[in-house]
Amino acid sequence: MPELADGSVQLMVTSPPYPMIKMWDNLFAQADAKIAELWQKLDENCQEETVRQIYDAMHDYLGKVWQETYRVLIDGGIACINIGDATRTVNGKFQLFPNHSRITEICEKIGFTTLPYILWKKPTTKPKYKGKGAFLGSGFLPPNAYVTLDCEFILLFRKGNLRKFQPKDSQRYNSAFTKQQRDEWFSQIWTVKGTRQTASQLERRTAAFPDEIADRLIKMFSIKGDTVLDPFLGSGTTTKIALQNGRNSIGYETDEKVLPIISKKIGNSKINMAAEVQIIKR
Ligand SMILES: C[S@@+](CC[C@H](N)C(=O)[O-])C[C@H]1O[C@@H](n2cnc3c(N)ncnc32)[C@H](O)[C@@H]1O
Repeated sequence: MPELADGSVQLMVTSPPYPMIKMWDNLFAQADAKIAELWQKLDENCQEETVRQIYDAMHDYLGKVWQETYRVLIDGGIACINIGDATRTVNGKFQLFPNHSRITEICEKIGFTTLPYILWKKPTTKPKYKGKGAFLGSGFLPPNAYVTLDCEFILLFRKGNLRKFQPKDSQRYNSAFTKQQRDEWFSQIWTVKGTRQTASQLERRTAAFPDEIADRLIKMFSIKGDTVLDPFLGSGTTTKIALQNGRNSIGYETDEKVLPIISKKIGNSKINMAAEVQIIKR
């Protein structure tokens, strides 16, 4: 993110492409030639070691963004990363790819302090049997069924020390949440319905998170006038909600095809401060 100066952002809220989730395979392969090569190697000779290398390379790709996020955050700035784990059958073997723990390890190596995370519970999908998506006839017989992944993670990290404010800082006090909001938002399990995806394939491909998720995180971890970054902007949810809440916003998105969705989302929001949206093309 060369456009952004060191220490210029107070909060990062994002949801990256999820490693080992099929819908993002092409994106990772197109973004990184090494990943494309490894998939080809896997097709030719399916080896567990190659699967491991693909998983590692996907996290290396995301890791560069976490590293840049660390640089652009202020001391005391917060990073919120929405990520789901992945399950997949490779070479006939069903297994979990715990993306949340890998990202936590990488962020700690970068220098972030890990904070208690949030579990975002979504409506349950059908339990799995041998990775096939249903219990079938043996659903009541141990031991080969798997627990369903019905939570995603919202990982929380801080750069450096607690943020410092002047006593009675007016912007901070103007950004206060209510007691009811505090009690609900600062508990670990959030039950928030996922975004109902529209029929448009273009919109589905962004896998948007609901406005509610961005709204809570922005109000919990930034104050009015702050700048909120989303390095994987998708349909523009973070920017829309940041602007609605009197924050500035910067977003990065590599897929030009989602630009009309971003424009529509941000254009329809009730912007309550002077805001400028700049599109940086490379
Ligand atoms: C899970 S989606 C984000 C969804 C978003 N939270 C929303 O509400 O719409 C991830 C997005 O990251 C984009 N992306 C992937 N690699 C990127 C990169 N290196 N820089 C910027 N955007 C990237 C993808 O094109 C995709 O739109």
